[in-house]
Amino acid sequence: MSIESLKSLFRPELDELSAYRVPPAPPAVKLDANESPFPLPPEARARIAAALHATELRRYPDGRARELREALARGLGGSQDEYVLGTGSDELIALLATAMSQPRTGAQRPVVVFPDPTFVMYRMTSRAHGWEPVGVPLDGAWDLDADGMADALGRTNPNIVYYASPNNPTGNCFSRDKIERLVDTFPGTLHIIDEAYGAYSGQSFATFAEERPHCALMGTLSKVGFAGIRVGWVRIHEALSQELEKVRQPFNLNTVSQVIATLALTDLAPFLENGITSIVAERERLATELTAYEALQCFPSDANFLLVQYTGDVPELCAALLDRAIAVRQFLTGDSRLRSCIRITIGTPEENQRLVGALSDILG
Ligand SMILES: Cc1ncc(COP(=O)(O)O)c(C=O)c1O
Repeated sequence: MSIESLKSLFRPELDELSAYRVPPAPPAVKLDANESPFPLPPEARARIAAALHATELRRYPDGRARELREALARGLGGSQDEYVLGTGSDELIALLATAMSQPRTGAQRPVVVFPDPTFVMYRMTSRAHGWEPVGVPLDGAWDLDADGMADALGRTNPNIVYYASPNNPTGNCFSRDKIERLVDTFPGTLHIIDEAYGAYSGQSFATFAEERPHCALMGTLSKVGFAGIRVGWVRIHEALSQELEKVRQPFNLNTVSQVIATLALTDLAPFLENGITSIVAERERLATELTAYEALQCFPSDANFLLVQYTGDVPELCAALLDRAIAVRQFLTGDSRLRSCIRITIGTPEENQRLVGALSDILG
């Protein structure tokens, strides 16, 4: 069989997608992926080393990740059985696309709605699973267009709607009352509020979602210091978590990740809190520093990054920063409003200073 005939067996939707690319060698100052910039202090590393030393690696992981789900329920509320775990929330988006893919009566394909621009994986993953993604443009302040969203929900009757709040890449939380109204107006859809950056906003929909079986919360450890262990979760009504469990690979979360994630949510929580507090303070400081440059306009942020509009040539600016070993994120595709923007993850005070120094060098 020729390679062409094998390629013809791949889903046609894949033609319009590209694989996620990361730069080959990370530069010295990496401000492009919304990770935490702070290494764990030695005491925290020692706790992890001791826990791993006592861990049995010869066996398969605990397929139910009981200790980790217990830590989540204790820390974030709800019962253990409401938590479905994934290798990052990326995997949960894929699990939801696999499990909830029954088209509505009369529809050809299942539909997912999200505001646009937002986290790209809602679109990419649903496309790769044969769903129809429907993006509703955010308004001029990067807030939800509540009427546009209501119109899309009413018209398409989606299986799922995602709201990342704080939103990536815009950084802001959406108006709470708009989300609440949409959730309450459309009880036949699963509304997922993605709180990946919630630690930096001090806001959560936990109490609201608890009272609404059709509202679920997504979370991750990736943005608060543990991107390397790939642990995310969705907290969802038990009747739905049971269905998702049927498509989850039983050992998706390896033992090392389970052990470290459990520690992160318990004994190491104070270290994480310190990091979060420092990043919020640095975010405000960096935003103020950037106002010195006429060519830059910083949008308000509730997350661990800033979206900054630049009046000059964005690829040139990013290249000039990269020449100084500083990586920030630019947007070459997607919402045209982002073409004139860069996204800067908040770094350590030293990294942020280096960025400011480089900008003053480049912009004068
Ligand atoms: C809004 C949002 N949700 C989820 C994720 C994915 O997180 P994870 O690392 O847990 O897969 C990201 C990552 O950038 C994100 O921005």
